[in-house]
Amino acid sequence: MAFFSKLDGRVVAAPSILSADFASLAEEVRRTREGGAELVHFDVMDNHFVPNLTIGPMVADSLASAVDLPIDAHLMVESPDNLIPAFIDAGVASISVQPEVVRHLHRTLTMIRRGGCEAGVALNPTTSLSSIEWALPYIDYINVMTVNPGFGGQDFIPEMADKVRRLKQMTDLPIQVDGGITEKTAPVAVEAGARVLVAGSAVFKGDDPAEQLRRILQAGRNAAP
Ligand code: DX5
Ligand code: ZN
Repeated sequence: MAFFSKLDGRVVAAPSILSADFASLAEEVRRTREGGAELVHFDVMDNHFVPNLTIGPMVADSLASAVDLPIDAHLMVESPDNLIPAFIDAGVASISVQPEVVRHLHRTLTMIRRGGCEAGVALNPTTSLSSIEWALPYIDYINVMTVNPGFGGQDFIPEMADKVRRLKQMTDLPIQVDGGITEKTAPVAVEAGARVLVAGSAVFKGDDPAEQLRRILQAGRNAAP
């Protein structure tokens, strides 16, 4: 499965189901597909790395059989190695981990790739880019967190645009942004170099997720060179 390595510089949108109606996840995802969603962002929280608690591999498994979009699992958990095999078995396309809590990053990223998934890192707003410098050969995409992980509906941290810009100078790997992405902030992120726009509350909190996603995506695409 290859999503990020085939992006070829395109701007794409990934609805974060964190803000969706969990009682009808598959239907919610299908609605965003009509708006141009190409990837499903699946937030996994363990009440340790972040204060919140969400969903795990069993839900990913059910969702993967019910929708035809690739699933990107963002593991905001303290011991991702324990969960990675189950997410691989669930059929997700890609898995990102937070290097702040991974002791042997090379081993973890290699485990993800060996399972046939693309391997990502998600960086907290204050995590330095230099912390992943030596991991770049084992990474397929980088998620620049534009809020502190843990909750939907927070405001985009404006300084993160510069972080994306700096990262772009360091690598050609696809850059994802996650947190506070709206019609207003998507162009800022894309102009800085981001190509994968993760959006949760801005998509699902209105009446029409497809239309909301379409607008965010269009705003982002208009800012692409
Ligand atoms: C935050 C999650 C995000 C979250 C984004 O910890 O990683 O994926 O769903 O939500 P919004 O778009 O509402 O900021
Ligand atoms: Zn996320």
